[in-house]
Amino acid sequence: MSSPTNLLIRHAQIILPNGETMIGDVLIRDRLIVEVSPVISSAPTTEAITEVDADGLTLLPGVIDPQVHFREPGLEYKENLFSASCACAKGGVTSFLEMPNTRPLTANQEALDDKLHRASQKSLVNYGFFIGATGDNLTELLAANPTPGIKIFMGSMHGALLMDDEAKLEAIFAEGKRLIAVHAEDQARINQRRQEFAGIHDPAIHSQIQDNEAALLATKLALKLSKKYQRRLHILHMSTAEEAELLRQDKPSWVTAEVTPQHLVLNIDAYKTIGTLAQMNPPLRSHHDNEVLWQALRDGVIDFIATDHAPHTLEEKAQTYPNSPSGMPGVETSLAVMLTAAMEGKCTVAQVVNWMSTAVARAYGIPNKGAIAPGYDADLVLVDLQNYSPVLQEELLTKCGWSPFAGWNLTGWAKTTIVGGQIVYAEGKVNTEVRGQALKFE
Ligand code: DOR
Repeated sequence: MSSPTNLLIRHAQIILPNGETMIGDVLIRDRLIVEVSPVISSAPTTEAITEVDADGLTLLPGVIDPQVHFREPGLEYKENLFSASCACAKGGVTSFLEMPNTRPLTANQEALDDKLHRASQKSLVNYGFFIGATGDNLTELLAANPTPGIKIFMGSMHGALLMDDEAKLEAIFAEGKRLIAVHAEDQARINQRRQEFAGIHDPAIHSQIQDNEAALLATKLALKLSKKYQRRLHILHMSTAEEAELLRQDKPSWVTAEVTPQHLVLNIDAYKTIGTLAQMNPPLRSHHDNEVLWQALRDGVIDFIATDHAPHTLEEKAQTYPNSPSGMPGVETSLAVMLTAAMEGKCTVAQVVNWMSTAVARAYGIPNKGAIAPGYDADLVLVDLQNYSPVLQEELLTKCGWSPFAGWNLTGWAKTTIVGGQIVYAEGKVNTEVRGQALKFE
């Protein structure tokens, strides 16, 4: 396993914590950023230091992806912590928060400890794991440690993690202080519409079955309970204009929301070109929803970005709707998708940095991450904003081997990714010797 080296990054366009850009150097010692300045004089020859020439490249804090499904344990035929973290390294993602719908479910301390142990052995980037609510594990939910929070599937889930009973939901909101992150879709409405549209095999029907109203109903209920108990609430992958408008009118200071890149840049038109590869939960919406979500993000109504990386094999995806599973991979492409949007004028690079790193660290209380400043962890990504290149299916590192963005010409690709002062990805190669660390949550 590799150990941290001292690094001196030279001549980078550094995105500073205030959003301004400075051309300069960054010195890294013992996992930490120790100096950021226009010119850092060379280190004494007694000190072993690796210089990275970043001329023409832009240096950002590493992406913290706060919603991924990495499938280990139990579903490793789709993805595992090693393959997914290699994809993270390539995508500029230096930390992730992973969801509990693995086998067994992450619904108690033993399962959480098992994931943490596996990640310590296999993950090239930093990691944290949600604890999943089952309706009868309240004691475990309150005691679990370390965890970013409690994940509740209000809909779109089978088995023990489906929490569609309001009384059980309320019992969780009523107890403790831990953050609750909800997948907000109303299961009763989904069930009813599944019956109404039974027998239709066009995957586009997915967006009508799990429609905007299903998302809005669940988000309203979560907000109501959060207000009643002043309970820290995070709304995962918000997908509709209606939810964004609801939050715009009434968003308590203890509520945050996220959106995925796919809900910003893809919409129901994608079913025509990529069929079930565009099937996900919550589903893709209309062009109008895309635009309202963008505006909500720019206005701070939506706080940050998560990929909801949820890989399934191509064989599974090739099944006829509704047997095809929902979900798409994202960690390898998310930063480039967002930086390409920035280059197209949808937002600034500094906003992307905030949404994909700074605001995530703040919302989850992850100390020492999300900024390029002395004393912060040296989790960094150098990106190239000058050149465009296409998403090539054959070069993907996610085990599922496909992307809904295959063929898209993107800029902002990671050239070098650094985790805890160690180069984990450079010039197309992953350093599989690097290991991340468990994240802390304050
Ligand atoms: O489309 C989805 N697939 N959305 C989720 O939230 C979960 C997921 C999965 O685990 O496959």
